[in-house]
Amino acid sequence: MSTLVLVGTQWGDEGKGKTTDYLAARADMVVRYQGGNNAGHTVVVGDREFRMRLVPSGVFHGKDCVIGNGVVLDPSVLVQELDYLAGHGVAVDRIWVSGGAHVILPYHIRLDQLEEERRGPYRLGTTGRGIGPAYADKAARIGIRFSELLNPTVFPAKLRINLEEKNHLLQAVYGASGFDEQEVLDQYLAYADRLRPLAADTSLLINRAIDRGDKVLFEGAQGTLLDLDHGTYPYVTSSHPVAGGACIGAGVGPTRINRVLGVVKAYTSRVGDGPFPTELPGPEGDWIRERGQEYGTITRRPRRCGWLDTVIVRYAARLSGVTDLAVTRLDILAGLERVRISTAYRLDNSLVTEFPLDGADFAACEPVYEDLPGWTATGEPLGLADLPAAARAYLERVEELCDLPVAVVSLGRERGQTLELCDLFAAGTACAAKPSRL
Ligand code: IMO
Ligand code: MG
Repeated sequence: MSTLVLVGTQWGDEGKGKTTDYLAARADMVVRYQGGNNAGHTVVVGDREFRMRLVPSGVFHGKDCVIGNGVVLDPSVLVQELDYLAGHGVAVDRIWVSGGAHVILPYHIRLDQLEEERRGPYRLGTTGRGIGPAYADKAARIGIRFSELLNPTVFPAKLRINLEEKNHLLQAVYGASGFDEQEVLDQYLAYADRLRPLAADTSLLINRAIDRGDKVLFEGAQGTLLDLDHGTYPYVTSSHPVAGGACIGAGVGPTRINRVLGVVKAYTSRVGDGPFPTELPGPEGDWIRERGQEYGTITRRPRRCGWLDTVIVRYAARLSGVTDLAVTRLDILAGLERVRISTAYRLDNSLVTEFPLDGADFAACEPVYEDLPGWTATGEPLGLADLPAAARAYLERVEELCDLPVAVVSLGRERGQTLELCDLFAAGTACAAKPSRL
């Protein structure tokens, strides 16, 4: 059994797309288990940059790609993405979609945007893609699943009932216009025809692959601090990016997960509203944003940037049972005289070393920093030994503070700019090649 769940340990945009693409070279199957097209995973293949929203980043290696039941699916986006990939010569004939995935309908998108406007200063800063309303309908048991979209008698009937309610809500509460039933029906039945061949019992596919001994990689979207239960509620998304989300969102049991890779960006970013203790609102944050081109992959919103916060990474590691870390974008910090890592917080004159569950407490936390010397450039190292000593020391300190081995180091956007320090698909739990042992 060789399964690996990859999770973001911060607020998303940790470099999960690149890391997935890198590991997918050796995987047999790559699975998305939650979220939807709020994700933006950038993958650089040769001189081309692909921005993926729904299709797993394993598609560039021709692997089986699965969109699990835990994903919310905007069929228009999937169709666009399939065309975009095919138009660039990427094979799209091994993409499978769970019949249980819930469908994002136009009213979800409009309600998401109108609700954000209505909340004004209390908005969440969502991506406006209808994610929250689609998951809300799923929990309210009025959502429409992909298998139902494909059924020409069920879909029109469910759409009619839902539109009666949603059009009333749009008009009466938001003063907005509703949707024409026939128009939505025609549009979505066309998507259904196009996407029908992709429908599959994906839990069965995945579990059979695991039975065969195939290497299965579960690609998390978003990040731990955006988890509906464990993140900075209400400034979260409506799904479960933590590793446990892979079990529910893909239909696999917890006993079938071997390892969990926590992806840690060498600094922190957050897009959308909500507390962020290590945020650098001044020129230092601007410097990181420009150097790292920290603008939303899909929405192009400028991301808020700040220092690495190991309190949240440790919290993420605990929640997901992380076994190894992938540290990304170490190259971006090159050129700074000193780099800082938050090791704890100060709250009401006491030292806090664990993530506070109360939102108001978290918002009041001041980071406690440790300063480390910076490095000038990370270059194109063949191994850890070629990295500047200060960059290595930074990685060692991250290992110590998180009590986890660093298994992957990413030093640029291209596949080749990656150091893999141990085989993550191998059995066992500990990664042998710790930088500190060099
Ligand atoms: P990837 O997979 C960063 C954030 C939004 C907002 C909150 C809720 O690229 O890491 P939603 O539209 O999901 O209801 O918005 O979650 N958010 C992300 N931030 N990266 C993402 O995905 C995100 N997906 C959602 O900015 O704060
Ligand atoms: Mg993103």
